[in-house]
Amino acid sequence: MSRDEQKKLAAEKALEYVEDGMVVGVGTGSTVAFFIDGLARMKNRIEGAVSSSEQSTRQLESHGIPVFDLNAVGPLKLYVDGADECDPYNRLIKGGGAALTREKIIAQASDRFICIIDAAKQVEHLGEFPVPVEVIPMARSLVARAIAKMDGHPIWRENVVTDNGNWILDVHHWRIADPVGLEAKLNQIPGVVTCGLFAARGADEVIIGGKVRPIRRP
Ligand code: 5RP
Repeated sequence: MSRDEQKKLAAEKALEYVEDGMVVGVGTGSTVAFFIDGLARMKNRIEGAVSSSEQSTRQLESHGIPVFDLNAVGPLKLYVDGADECDPYNRLIKGGGAALTREKIIAQASDRFICIIDAAKQVEHLGEFPVPVEVIPMARSLVARAIAKMDGHPIWRENVVTDNGNWILDVHHWRIADPVGLEAKLNQIPGVVTCGLFAARGADEVIIGGKVRPIRRP
């Protein structure tokens, strides 16, 4: 099965978690794009969505799905999003599409985070995919130097400005032994808005293709 077919199957499976009257938290990326197309088929049963990016907002609105400000709707029951890497404990690297900050906010605001991926995203240890870090522009070199001291190799994703008006550093060559600890450490560097490690609050369930994958417990 192709990666796109797997993404579509995962998205279809995630639609089973959507309940009548819900405001659904919606992530960003090519896998989520399949989910949004599916959501459009049931748009009359839901109240609307909270979106993690301008890109997803455009797609939702093109289907006539109302998009709400998170502040206006409060905690969400369900958030559906993709990922760039996923370890056996459902900890993730996200932000390949530069939407990590809003994604992390919505994940935190949601009771249940369903992550939809294709099999190639599964890894034993996070870090093969570069860890995105969203930074306030004036702090780019300060943050890069701090990351270099932590044995990371930050590369500025030039020509990319996030929906929040910030920049992205992609940190290569990290073999991440302690994702929760590293996430906390990165988030404490002045100038970091957030990092793409979703470890303290990982996914509640991961769907690969059409199946929910069992989580490994520490
Ligand atoms: C965007 C993300 C995406 O979820 C991640 O990049 C996966 O994207 P895709 O579904 O296109 O493979 O974190 O910031």
